[in-house]
Amino acid sequence: MKKKLIQHTSEHFKKVFHKAPEHLFLSPGRINIIGEHVDYNDGFVMPAAINKYICFAISKNADSHITLVAQDLDETYQLDLNDELKPVDKMWVNYILGALHQLKAKGLNQGCSIVFSSTIPMGAGLSSSAALECGIAYAMNKLFDLGLTKQEIALIGQQSEHTFVGVNCGIMDQFASVFGKKNKVIKLDCNTLEYEYYQADFKKYSLLLLDSNVKHTHLTSGYNVRRQEVERGLAIIKQHFPEVKTFRDCQEIMLLGLKEQLGETIFKRCHFVVKEIQRVQEAAEAINRSDFKKLGQLLSETHQGLSEEYEVSCPEIDFLVHALKEEKSVLGARMMGGGFGGCSINLIEKGSEKEVINKVTKQYRNQFGIQLKAYKVKISKGTTKYKNN
Ligand code: GLA
Repeated sequence: MKKKLIQHTSEHFKKVFHKAPEHLFLSPGRINIIGEHVDYNDGFVMPAAINKYICFAISKNADSHITLVAQDLDETYQLDLNDELKPVDKMWVNYILGALHQLKAKGLNQGCSIVFSSTIPMGAGLSSSAALECGIAYAMNKLFDLGLTKQEIALIGQQSEHTFVGVNCGIMDQFASVFGKKNKVIKLDCNTLEYEYYQADFKKYSLLLLDSNVKHTHLTSGYNVRRQEVERGLAIIKQHFPEVKTFRDCQEIMLLGLKEQLGETIFKRCHFVVKEIQRVQEAAEAINRSDFKKLGQLLSETHQGLSEEYEVSCPEIDFLVHALKEEKSVLGARMMGGGFGGCSINLIEKGSEKEVINKVTKQYRNQFGIQLKAYKVKISKGTTKYKNN
């Protein structure tokens, strides 16, 4: 699949620019085992890069002009790095412009021609946008020797979302896309950006993604609103417990005593955050001792919290999670990513995937009239230069 993507992107480059691309880059999507909506809430997350990618075929230009060709959308956009870069009314362009804007400040002044194409489904919660922002930043850094670290590249991706796209996302997606390693899950401390790799060996079990085919964009979803709610919540908690500096210092018992001050909605949001931060620690320990039953339970608890307290699920994903939990071969199931659609992630006994997929596909079609998609993904390497032509 990777080879095919590279070939088809290079061929398109040749067709458009009448020469072979000088460089090829691959930037992956991500999954997240556990730690949802806590990357902007002082938590830990456990994502991993996957074998679904955006491929970039690139050649340098002699001047400051950049041509961007989105092969899958059949759209082209041109810009001059000497002009002031501002958001435009095309979303895919903004992800890139947001990154270029920051790269200019880091010394980027030479242009290039880029064709990109993707096997990461859009709006499925697999972070195609992080792959795009980080892929561009990574490629420009390599091509023009900008001297950026991987961490700086991930932060440029996140800033691009904040400034040019308008989504106040955390750092998880960009970090996973850039720092991913084959067969490793990353445990990331979202406050310090320290990280460690965990072996992604689930023994008798595998991770199955089910795509609800309900598309979302966090510009119109409740993502930014959630962020405001928890910020308000933390400010109230701090007023009553000055020793609390971040959500990580906050105990469930403190929240229970502040129910009235927080109000029902904000209480629920904060309660989810505090419990989820705790669950990630427990999940990391469970992975270390290969206790997959425990890991599965934690995934299912996360879903319940996301659905009932953080309220970022949707009826379709709730249905899927519920259906999967009915299966004996499934240890745990939950919505993954920002929510309001996208994929569920399921810990399932190897060998039983096909039967479960067939069964749930029928149930899902009967209930919603939507075709379910299933992805078996491999945990793979982060953003990388493919080869020198
Ligand atoms: C989106 C955001 C991430 C993270 C997740 C939820 O994917 O981009 O920063 O907040 O939602 O865990």
